[in-house]
Amino acid sequence: MADTLTLTDNRTGKTYEIPITDGTIRATDLKQIKAGGDDQGLATYDPAFMNTAACRSRITFIDGDKGILEYRGYPIEQLAEHSTYLETAYLIIFGELPSTTQLQQWTREITFHTMLHENIKKLMEAFQYDAHPMGVFLSTVGAFSTFYPDAKKIFDEKSRMKQIHRLIAKVPTIAAYAYRHSIGRPYVYPDNDLSFTGNFLNMLFKMTELKYQPNAVLERALDVLFILHADHEQNCSTSTMRVIGSSHADPYSAMAGAAAALYGPLHGGANEAVLRMLNEIGSVANVPAFIKRVKGGDGRLMGFGHRVYKSYDPRAKIIKQTADEVFEVTGKNPLLEIALELERIALQDEYFVTRKLYPNVDFYSGLIYQAMSFPVEMFPVLFAIPRTCGWIAQWEEMLLDQEQKIARPKQIYTGATKRQYTVLSARK
Ligand code: ACO
Repeated sequence: MADTLTLTDNRTGKTYEIPITDGTIRATDLKQIKAGGDDQGLATYDPAFMNTAACRSRITFIDGDKGILEYRGYPIEQLAEHSTYLETAYLIIFGELPSTTQLQQWTREITFHTMLHENIKKLMEAFQYDAHPMGVFLSTVGAFSTFYPDAKKIFDEKSRMKQIHRLIAKVPTIAAYAYRHSIGRPYVYPDNDLSFTGNFLNMLFKMTELKYQPNAVLERALDVLFILHADHEQNCSTSTMRVIGSSHADPYSAMAGAAAALYGPLHGGANEAVLRMLNEIGSVANVPAFIKRVKGGDGRLMGFGHRVYKSYDPRAKIIKQTADEVFEVTGKNPLLEIALELERIALQDEYFVTRKLYPNVDFYSGLIYQAMSFPVEMFPVLFAIPRTCGWIAQWEEMLLDQEQKIARPKQIYTGATKRQYTVLSARK
């Protein structure tokens, strides 16, 4: 017998059998229960989607209690150890790891699309000299819809694939141009001999040398960070991508919106907040006093806690290892000692233990980015580059899902009841 939920309406004495599938009931099954009078039936109220599944997805699995993160069934730890960002992006988009030939073709396609239209430079020049690179990034992604009008053909598989290649290939170039603009340096064209991340470092940091040679350790570290940030199921920016895409807007317009959601400090800005906090603490000796303050309700331990993970964020574990490798090359970030001491104390403190507060992905990522010479304004951009493949995969999954329609939540109206318009002269 199928699992059902039996609901009895105390007002009418009526009983309803609501099917349970995959641990959920369909919200529309509740409509048959009248909420009162000639209403449209009972609905659910769930601000911030705390307990609502809005889609079926085969892309990313998270078990927050056990600290598990898998892309298409592959554990994040294995991908971070053995894969590359481009291979992981292929996996996330197509659902399977590529064969050697498929990976070569994929890499060729991405490499082939790294250049930007020359007019993009003019667009960038219109921004203020000190424009935040994330603002430039999301505006440029949105502007792409005017450069590639064929992107409107969202149900044409070939056209979709072309936009996917373009987006994954071009986001590092946009990000690098935005950064170079913000520091007044000339833009650097892509070097297609280099790897995805090697070329990104080239476009960011090349000066007058004829050929930029990325440091192999930093190149790999960035690739690992990109793998860790590639997707994270239905978070704020991914949900934004799906919602905008549900109106059948082109993928560039939808992704500009997703990037805007990521720009917010509650989403893509937490690692910057961690650095600010570490600077404010100033030294290891000040850590106990800071912890005491946080426990007293004065501020939060940034980089700790997560809506989904109620154990150690699996990405934070990998990032900690990567940090050690990066610091071997760059020298230790002086803030590391403070971070380690904060973690040591917090992990054995009753306040943090009982609330299941563990380091999240952002606790160490900012330290690594800073050691690699990235300014803090670039942190959300560094998040957006790899998340592009996740956004696109989720967008395409939504488009091809027969159950999906234009997203349109309900509301509970709490405003004034019907009243008569008063002409201006008659108002008090
Ligand atoms: N420091 C101190 N106390 C905390 C922290 C923290 N970082 N996080 C949660 N708590 C406490 C809360 O005060 C609350 O305590 P109470 O029950 O005594 O009131 C309890 O733990 C539960 O906290 P909530 O805010 O209900 O947890 P929620 O799931 O809504 O918040 C969040 C998750 C926003 C990530 C939160 O832990 C936080 O603010 N962390 C710091 C910011 C941060 O690192 N954000 C990055 C998240 S990762 C990402 O977005 C990529």
